[in-house]
Amino acid sequence: MLVTSLSSLKGGVGKTTVTLGLASAAFAQGLRTLVVDMDPQSDASTGMDVTIGRHLNISHLLANPRASQVRNAIVPSGWSRTYKGKVDVLLGSPAAMAFDEPTLTKKQIWRVEEILAAVENDYDIVLIDCPPSLNGLTRMAWTASDRVAIVTEPSLFSVAATQRAFRAIDELRRGVSPRLRPLGVVVNRVRPQSIEHQYRIDELKQMFGPLVMEPELPERVALQQAQGAASPLHVWPGESAEEMALNFNMILERIFLTVQVSKPESAQPAR
Ligand SMILES: Nc1ncnc2c1ncn2[C@@H]1O[C@H](COP(=O)(O)OP(=O)(O)O)[C@@H](O)[C@H]1O
Ligand SMILES: [Mg+2]
Repeated sequence: MLVTSLSSLKGGVGKTTVTLGLASAAFAQGLRTLVVDMDPQSDASTGMDVTIGRHLNISHLLANPRASQVRNAIVPSGWSRTYKGKVDVLLGSPAAMAFDEPTLTKKQIWRVEEILAAVENDYDIVLIDCPPSLNGLTRMAWTASDRVAIVTEPSLFSVAATQRAFRAIDELRRGVSPRLRPLGVVVNRVRPQSIEHQYRIDELKQMFGPLVMEPELPERVALQQAQGAASPLHVWPGESAEEMALNFNMILERIFLTVQVSKPESAQPAR
C-alpha cells in the first residue's frame, strides 16, 4: 500500500484538487484507492460525493484508532457509481482541529500510521489531503506516508514556502520516520501565457531542480466543474477535462516510479 500526502503551507493552492485528480486517475486504472481527509474543512470528502454527517470520521479515529472502528469509519465514494472499482473515503471533520497541536507526543505522531495499518491489505494507494499548516494533523499524515507532494501556485512566495516544507519533511524523516521522502513540487494553476508564472516556475526549477514535477498543472475550469458536480475528473466530458486527466495519470505514474512499488497486475492502462 503506497501512502502519499498532499500538502502546502497555504490554503487555496490546489491540495484538494490534486488529491481528487490523483484519486480519479487511480480509480480509473482500477487501483483500490483510499482518500483520507485530514483537512478540517473536509473539501475532499465533499468532492468525492460523500455526505459529511453522522458517520464516524477521522476525528473519532484520531481519538481511538481501534481496527474495527477504522473499518466502520471508511465509506465508499459516490464515484463508485460511475464504474466498477473500489474508491473509499475516510471522512474529514471540523472536529479534527482539536488534534492540530503544534507539538505531539511520540504516541500521537504515529496515530495515522496506526489507523492505516488496519487497512494495509485493502488498498493499493492512499492519498492524504492535508490541512494548510505544519501542525499536528500534517505531521501525523506525513509520518504515515512514503512520500509527500508539496502543492504550490507559481507565486512570489512559492520558493520560500516550498523550502520550508521540504525542511520540515527532512526534520521529520531524521527524527521520526526514515521512510518519508519528498515526492516533489506540484505546480498548479499555471497560466502558460503569463510571463510572471514562467518566471516563478524557472525560479522553482533553479532552486529544486528535478523535484519540480512534470507536468505543471494549468488552470482549467473543467476541474472546478467536475469538483462542483462531485464527479471524478476522468469521466467529465470535454477536451480540457481529458487533458487534465492525462496530467494526473502522469503524476500518478511518477509516484509509483519513485516509490518503486509496482502496480497490481489487475491495474488497467491509464485512459
Ligand atoms: N488547476 C486549476 N484550475 C482551475 N481551478 C483550480 C485549479 N486548482 C485549483 N482550482 C480551484 O481553486 C480553488 C482552491 O483549490 P483547492 O484544491 O480547494 O485548494 P486547497 O485544497 O489547497 O485549499 C478551488 O475552487 C479549485 O476548484
Ligand atoms: Mg483543500
